[in-house]
Amino acid sequence: MLELRDIHLQWDHRPLLAGVNLRVAAGQTVALLGASGSGKSTLLKVVAGIEVPERGSVWFDGQDITRLPPHRRGFALMFQDFALFPHLDVRDNVAFGLVEQGVPRAAAREQAQAMLARFGLGEHARSRVWTLSGGEQQRVALARALITQPRALLLDEPFSALDAALREHLRAEFRERITDAGMAAILVTHDEAEARAMAQQGWALQGGQLRALW
Ligand SMILES: Nc1ncnc2c1ncn2[C@@H]1O[C@H](COP(=O)(O)OP(=O)(O)O)[C@@H](O)[C@H]1O
Ligand SMILES: [Mg+2]
Repeated sequence: MLELRDIHLQWDHRPLLAGVNLRVAAGQTVALLGASGSGKSTLLKVVAGIEVPERGSVWFDGQDITRLPPHRRGFALMFQDFALFPHLDVRDNVAFGLVEQGVPRAAAREQAQAMLARFGLGEHARSRVWTLSGGEQQRVALARALITQPRALLLDEPFSALDAALREHLRAEFRERITDAGMAAILVTHDEAEARAMAQQGWALQGGQLRALW
């Protein structure tokens, strides 16, 4: 269970998050909607540990992780402006997180190859990432986020660069993987149809607080 308790954060002397409370159970996806600039990405950064709240706390499975650094949380992040490594090929981009965890390179590459095949990118495994289309790069970023089997998955407008057919394919795939892996997932999107297709709970961030949508 991922839990936010009474999170407060100011930006430029303006309250951006003003008492945010949220609970996301394992295997559950919660969608965050809200106007541009309402603080959705900032809230994800608080969960990830990139931003530390001025007040309030972040909990995971009964442990207060408010001050735990991002790399010790076991969470995967996928932000809008996905940052792939240009000097690595597609397969090594996906294998990266496993190698960092100490998985031998050959085994990591094998898992990455299998993951890429599931994402329909098998034949691009040895390509440089910048030779792929924007949509393909986004799918590589998704594969990279999922391969380490994170405890929580934080998605910031992950499908925005994809065409409609691919979006739908990935929605279904994500929903399934999140449930299977028992991850708590938070999806930030401005697409309510997408949010409803993927999330059991929907919240709107407005005036620094969450309002239940469904
Ligand atoms: N690190 C930052 N640099 C610049 N502006 C920031 C930063 N963090 C928050 N903000 C400001 O906070 C507001 C909310 O930003 P953000 O969380 O990105 O909103 P959203 O994701 O809902 O569009 C914006 O007005 C933004 O300018
Ligand atoms: Mg944002």
